[in-house]
Amino acid sequence: VTLHPSFSASTAPAVRLYGRRVMLRPLVAPDFAAWSEVRLHNEPWLVPWEPLRPATMPDPARSRDAFASRCSNRDKDRQFGNAYQFGLFIGSSLIGEVNINSVQRGPLQSGTIGYWIDQRHAGRGYVPEAVVVLMHYAFEEIRLHRLEICIVPRNHRSISVVDKLSIRCEGVALRYLEINGLWEDHARYAITVEEWAHRRDGLLQEWGGR
Ligand SMILES: CC(C)(COP(=O)(O)OP(=O)(O)OC[C@H]1O[C@@H](n2cnc3c(N)ncnc32)[C@H](O)[C@@H]1OP(=O)(O)O)[C@@H](O)C(=O)NCCC(=O)NCCS
Repeated sequence: VTLHPSFSASTAPAVRLYGRRVMLRPLVAPDFAAWSEVRLHNEPWLVPWEPLRPATMPDPARSRDAFASRCSNRDKDRQFGNAYQFGLFIGSSLIGEVNINSVQRGPLQSGTIGYWIDQRHAGRGYVPEAVVVLMHYAFEEIRLHRLEICIVPRNHRSISVVDKLSIRCEGVALRYLEINGLWEDHARYAITVEEWAHRRDGLLQEWGGR
């Protein structure tokens, strides 16, 4: 995994993160066509695992303006240190997103990882690879102490991601998050920087950068 800054169209410094195959970078307004295609193609694959979009909110997969607002809100979140959200690319193709959300500083120093991938690219280990890239960034660049991944227990594909990375399960939080309109129980997985320090070389060797 290598970390280096580049510059987006707005000239704001934008991070690019690299794994062996994946590249992560913040999405920008010109990504609308690619993002919209992937999201619309994958609606039935993604909707069961995501919060409902409020009826009053325009759909960023169908509205260029709504997508541009989503990008600028995410830029602000990154600037304020609230969240770090990335498009997941193979070569120049956008195939998903991985995020560090709900960043809390103070005595907690934590963030929550979320992810999704285009079904046409599922099952090739791209998301576990991207999670290792995010862990490297979160622990060694933005200096968080703890990362969580919260998963609906029947989402076996997502549980396979944390199992592959041997991320610790801390138990099930009841009715923890709204997913597709229901308060769903979530298994809460976590890794701290101390565990990362012990495991980083092995994880980076297995999944990491170019
Ligand atoms: C969960 C998810 C992000 C995993 O991403 P991924 O890059 O496919 O991860 P992996 O390659 O490690 O595959 C995970 C599991 O998907 C399943 N899988 C394998 N090939 C697949 C394919 N072609 N199509 C669908 N699922 C497949 C397998 O169960 C695999 O586990 P295994 O490797 O132990 O057999 C992806 O399935 C997804 O986006 N799902 C819908 C949204 C979602 O659930 N997000 C997570 C919410 S917590």
